Amino acid sequence: MHPHFARFQKLAELVDGANTVNQALIDFHQNKTSSVIKGRNVIAGYVRGWGLQFNIIRSFIQQDPIYRESLKLVEGIHLTHEVSLMNIFLIMKYGLKNLERFKYCCSRCSARNEAHSTAVYSDTRGHEHRSDTTMRDSSNIKNALEGDIIEFGSYHGGSAIFMANVAKRLGMTGTVYALDTFTGLPAADPVLDFLVTNDFKNTSFESLSERISKLDLPNLVPIKGPFQKTAPALLRRSQKILLAYLDCKTYESTHYALSSVLPHMHPAGGYILLHDPIHSNGLGPLQAMEEMIETHQLYAEQAYPHMVYRYPKLCSQANQF
Ligand SMILES: C[S@@+](CC[C@H](N)C(=O)[O-])C[C@H]1O[C@@H](n2cnc3c(N)ncnc32)[C@H](O)[C@@H]1O
Repeated sequence: MHPHFARFQKLAELVDGANTVNQALIDFHQNKTSSVIKGRNVIAGYVRGWGLQFNIIRSFIQQDPIYRESLKLVEGIHLTHEVSLMNIFLIMKYGLKNLERFKYCCSRCSARNEAHSTAVYSDTRGHEHRSDTTMRDSSNIKNALEGDIIEFGSYHGGSAIFMANVAKRLGMTGTVYALDTFTGLPAADPVLDFLVTNDFKNTSFESLSERISKLDLPNLVPIKGPFQKTAPALLRRSQKILLAYLDCKTYESTHYALSSVLPHMHPAGGYILLHDPIHSNGLGPLQAMEEMIETHQLYAEQAYPHMVYRYPKLCSQANQF
């Protein structure tokens, strides 16, 4: 094991080490030249995935009051495994915070980070910058916590309520959108998809709306209808997407969700989480994910407890603050 993970393990074993672990997680999530390879923060991915799989940080997370409160709200209604909720929590608490630092691409001259890319060019001072087709204007974004979160596939709203409560308690100002037909899976491919049309139909938009108002979560907005109908207008009016969580079970839904959300991701490298592809019944979503990887040449930041990608890709020479 790499020495810095071994040191982290030691910290996590300390009974009263919560502050040190907290600081270590903040440090591990910084996008440094040494941690960003092929557009994703490998170190951050390792510390979350390995830390969760081998039980290094689970008890640390379980002691966090925001995590505990948010989990309690969704007991009995979330389908997502608890370890996945833990990972979402880590990304929201430590990963998104780090996006606040994205404003400059080059530490040496503080050039504005208007590009993340494959091509590298040098400016008149000889400093290298990157540019490519994923370039977009980020000049009006003051900090990362101003973006939104979107869930494709919400069912009873368990994971969406969890994310909305964490967001509220972390002081995020954006909205969590929970997209679902709320009438069951739309058309599934009879061979490629494992689940069938109309699975998950025992839920309702009205009962979720009622639950949201009882829990006082005005930052959570359920959107009823097939993604193909609801997502275009929603994504046009939403802020940049900090985190997209895909849990929608079919090839077609996953393919559509990915292609519609990518152009709206936060320019500092928003998080795309896919629940289905690593599961035995997820070959349809896995195929959609593989097509995305091929088209955009993305590399995963994490593969346990679900797939995590960054889009646009992180700039490997960026963010040395
Ligand atoms: C596994 S459930 C989501 C579980 C939820 N994320 C949780 O952890 O509690 C999958 C949901 O995706 C929804 N879904 C799949 N494809 C969809 C589409 N194209 N439009 C709207 N909803 C869709 C289904 O209706 C279903 O409720």
